[in-house]
Amino acid sequence: MGKALIIGAGGVASVVVHKCCQNSDVFEEICIASRTKSKCDAIKEAVDGGKTNIVTAELDADDAQQVINLIHTFQPDIVINVALPYQDLTIMDACLATGVHYLDTANYEPPDVPKFEYKWQWAYQERFQEAGLTAILGCGFDPGVTGVFSAYAAKHYFDEIHTIDIVDANAGDHGYPFATNFNPEINIREITAKGRYYENGQWIETEPLEIKRVYDLPQIGPKDTYLLYHEELESLAKHIPGVRRIRFFMTFSQQYIEHLMVLQNVGMTSIEPIFYEGIEIQPLQFLKAVLPDPASLGPRTKGKTNIGCIFQGMKDGQEKTYYVYNISDHQECYREVGSQAISYTTGVPAMIGAKLLLQGKWKKPGVFNVEEFDPDPFMEELMRQGLPWHEDFSPVLID
Ligand SMILES: NC(=O)c1ccc[n+]([C@@H]2O[C@H](COP(=O)([O-])OP(=O)(O)OC[C@H]3O[C@@H](n4cnc5c(N)ncnc54)[C@H](OP(=O)(O)O)[C@@H]3O)[C@@H](O)[C@H]2O)c1
Repeated sequence: MGKALIIGAGGVASVVVHKCCQNSDVFEEICIASRTKSKCDAIKEAVDGGKTNIVTAELDADDAQQVINLIHTFQPDIVINVALPYQDLTIMDACLATGVHYLDTANYEPPDVPKFEYKWQWAYQERFQEAGLTAILGCGFDPGVTGVFSAYAAKHYFDEIHTIDIVDANAGDHGYPFATNFNPEINIREITAKGRYYENGQWIETEPLEIKRVYDLPQIGPKDTYLLYHEELESLAKHIPGVRRIRFFMTFSQQYIEHLMVLQNVGMTSIEPIFYEGIEIQPLQFLKAVLPDPASLGPRTKGKTNIGCIFQGMKDGQEKTYYVYNISDHQECYREVGSQAISYTTGVPAMIGAKLLLQGKWKKPGVFNVEEFDPDPFMEELMRQGLPWHEDFSPVLID
């Protein structure tokens, strides 16, 4: 049915490739393109492509012209961008120049300012609309499935949603004193930033990791969760009508927080360049180079993740609560696709979004966040593609 150009060759890209190959009726041909071609070749080697034909290419996606040239050569129907957020705009430009649909899992962030927001990508709305092309933004798990869960709750269970609490728990243990489960630079920039949540039309800012709650998660147990700003808060505040409060909580162990604090206190998480023996380096990028590669954590990580959304609101004049969540097991993900659950829970939704677009079920001209599409076909695919979800109609609420 279609051809996909997958940009990036990290942990998430590897899962996207495996999953596209499991859906070879839709993904007949894929091209894996990234900065380091040997990593693309290694993914191709590791996957049983089945009926999907796989090619690889070297690509610097910071250069829109290189992306345009590769699109002209490979002629994809969609570009799945699972490189880094810094490449979002050049890849969107290339899609517009060549008439190809676009999907990503993380919103644009300028490399020199640790501030992610949708304004840069939402600014492409008219151009995608006029070109008759679809851009699907933030189609991983969070953002991604959390937006689909919100659209599903709004469609099936609520007349009005008043509050949404997103809870992202990772109870996986990789045996290292400190490592991040996805790109360390992106991960640490996110966690060391100020917290922020939406309430009654306002954004309320907190100090980094200032708000902590203990939440007892199904199959994981009680965990320390910290309020963070996360990109889907911005789009859900815009797209879920009448919502009064949206917060995002992520679990971290005491050990993780202690290491992060030390690294931050000594300046290792800074993105301000410094000179070291005459060479300009960015401390956070140097830290990334010495930390374990997230792609290498797969075989070592044991335990489960639980990511979901807790809703409060009204249905038929009655107060109602609803919790929908997925539990993934790191070792099971590794056995299936050779990656731990963080990459798995991001890569599977990216493939599903691309599949629905190619099937015409999630296809409309313009730039959209996932909650702007019909959630039902996506929820069905989650069940089939390895991310089953569970429902609880009387969850404990977070105060
Ligand atoms: N929505 C979600 O739930 C969610 C969750 C986790 C991650 N994510 C997002 O998923 C994306 C991938 O994460 P990951 O863990 O797979 O990261 P990763 O392991 O660091 O992989 C990133 C890949 O992008 C490549 N790349 C970087 N700059 C490039 C450029 N200029 N041109 C071409 N390729 C380039 C890298 O190449 P090299 O190998 O040469 O460095 C690497 O292969 C990130 O944007 C992350 O924010 C989303």
